Amino acid sequence: MRALACSPAPSIRATWISESLATATSRVVPIWSMIAPVGYEHILVDIEAPIATVTLNRPKVLNALSPELIREVNIALGELDADETVRAVVLTGGPKVFAAGADIGDMADRTAVDQLRRDQTGRWAGIAAFSKPLVAAVNGYALGGGCELALMCDLIVAGDTARLGQPEINLGIIPGAGGTQRWPRTVGKYVAMEAMLTGAPVTARRAYDLGLVNKVVPAEMTIEIAKRTARGLAEKPPLALRMAKEAVLKAFESPLSEGLAVERKSFYFLFSTEDQKEGMHAFLEKRKGVFKGR
Ligand code: CAA
Repeated sequence: MRALACSPAPSIRATWISESLATATSRVVPIWSMIAPVGYEHILVDIEAPIATVTLNRPKVLNALSPELIREVNIALGELDADETVRAVVLTGGPKVFAAGADIGDMADRTAVDQLRRDQTGRWAGIAAFSKPLVAAVNGYALGGGCELALMCDLIVAGDTARLGQPEINLGIIPGAGGTQRWPRTVGKYVAMEAMLTGAPVTARRAYDLGLVNKVVPAEMTIEIAKRTARGLAEKPPLALRMAKEAVLKAFESPLSEGLAVERKSFYFLFSTEDQKEGMHAFLEKRKGVFKGR
């Protein structure tokens, strides 16, 4: 396991990584271990290749999502997206709480112009654009922006203590990071409307019944089961995973004909990959496929 230090600037890191990948014959020394660590303040990043875990780490304020924390999550996911040794990522708030939403202390006295200028919720776009499988491990509260963050992930493993909801209405605002759009697309109009208008959270069990989470597990097992899920995904062909994810997300954003066109092109494209040859020949030879993302 290695902890990932925060680089000075993601664009510089992306260049370093791509250069190192182009020239490296061995990956014994990861390139970021040579970079002077600046360190994350609000998150923890552990890489246990082929998976990584990003943990929100502001326990005193129930992982309230400050702009700095969001920035760090964006940087970390950008780095993990570029890291070829990482094939799936777990995003968690740790054993007690996922995140109690955007940082109310940070927002309370802001004006509309402040919010527009700093594009508070637009910053989430980088997280939603992560190209590898992202598994949320949710214990305790996932409220407001915390719930929206979980809904940006591809799979959600919920501990039996999880409570998911959008309480923004009680603060005189509405969700700003996708809640009003992702809830109805996932659970339908009436359940979504109830969640947005009442602000009342749903339990893990109810979330499972609604199709809002993939599974409910004992809270002490949530992170381990999410990691196990991520490790399983990490054995699958990475390019096919990426295209499957893109195609499913397209279903939320486009008419059927457009989504089908994306699916068809990705399907044909995958026949140009080594992984497709490996997957099909492994099946015919009755062995397990070993995929390289090529
Ligand atoms: N922002 C800032 N601080 C927060 C916070 C938040 N969203 N949620 C909790 N905290 C802080 C509390 O102020 C408290 O700090 P102090 O110890 O310094 O007083 C600490 O975390 C512990 O919280 P509580 O004492 O309130 O803990 P509790 O167990 O009694 O209640 C809770 C837990 C029900 C989650 C409650 O904290 C709560 O209602 N939090 C706010 C939830 C919320 O409204 N989220 C939506 C935010 S807006 C948003 O997210 C917009 C968006 O879509 C982008």
